[in-house]
Amino acid sequence: MKQNKQPKIGATVTSADNMPEIREGQTVALLQELHILTRDGKMNQDSRRKLKQVYHLYQFIEPLLKEVLESKDNVTLVDHGAGKSYLGFIIYDLFFKALQNSHIYGIETREELVARSQELAQKFNFPGMSFLPLSVAESTESKLLPEQIDVVTALHACNTATDDAIQFALKKKARHIVLVPCCQAEVASVLKKNKGQSLGKSALTEIWRHPIHTREFGSQITNVLRCLQLEAHGYSVTVTELVGWEHSMKNELIIATYKNLPRKRPAERLKEVLETVGLQEMSTRFYAEEEVA
Ligand SMILES: C[S@@+](CC[C@H](N)C(=O)[O-])C[C@H]1O[C@@H](n2cnc3c(N)ncnc32)[C@H](O)[C@@H]1O
Repeated sequence: MKQNKQPKIGATVTSADNMPEIREGQTVALLQELHILTRDGKMNQDSRRKLKQVYHLYQFIEPLLKEVLESKDNVTLVDHGAGKSYLGFIIYDLFFKALQNSHIYGIETREELVARSQELAQKFNFPGMSFLPLSVAESTESKLLPEQIDVVTALHACNTATDDAIQFALKKKARHIVLVPCCQAEVASVLKKNKGQSLGKSALTEIWRHPIHTREFGSQITNVLRCLQLEAHGYSVTVTELVGWEHSMKNELIIATYKNLPRKRPAERLKEVLETVGLQEMSTRFYAEEEVA
């Protein structure tokens, strides 16, 4: 008879359990509450994909957390646009659970998701997790968050929430910023508005003349501007792919690490790119002149 190798409900996984997607020490009941595992310990295709995405991101985040812990004995992480907080819970379960005085904050506007995450954190006795029903912009001013944060993440935070997460990270002097942007409509709408004027000035406007190209180029240039913005604040930036295109259309992963690098050149490039593509009016979104001078 075939042996049932599914992990037991409520247990943590050991290497003896035959489920390669689940890592050693992970709390099985948590994965069930997050609906990554079904009640009988199985995983469907959707969950497998979600888990793969989160693990892939965790693989980039874990060394950053370790790096922070090389210079002090605690680490703080803020996850913006947390949604159901898959990312936060998995990072906590795999890494923070074993730490003292370290904290993950989930920022999310939907109150029912915040309440559910708070309930789960309590249920699993994760004292180093808090969830705040705030917009990213509100959290930047909130007294409920510390003045300094080590790592800031935003996984598919909608539209301009990624930009707000960058502002948050800059204000909190984050050491590391990990972004997987969602679609951003703001830049495309400005490109569209100024298209007529731009077409008369430069043949390069052909790149975004057709509506579908306006949207795609809008998305791409948004991320280019975000990278320059981070570099203009002294960060070193790498851009890579989160998972294969077959998994998600929004899989650009931007990782920025503060290195106090020279700011002048990227700040100049940022300004020049904004001018070249007719986005000068967006300079306050991507550029805070007084901060990078
Ligand atoms: C696409 S979901 C991603 C959720 C989660 N990060 C994930 O990848 O599973 C985006 C989430 O961001 C939240 N959100 C959108 N705009 C926000 C804002 N300005 N501030 C905080 N949360 C926001 C939405 O309510 C939603 O739950």
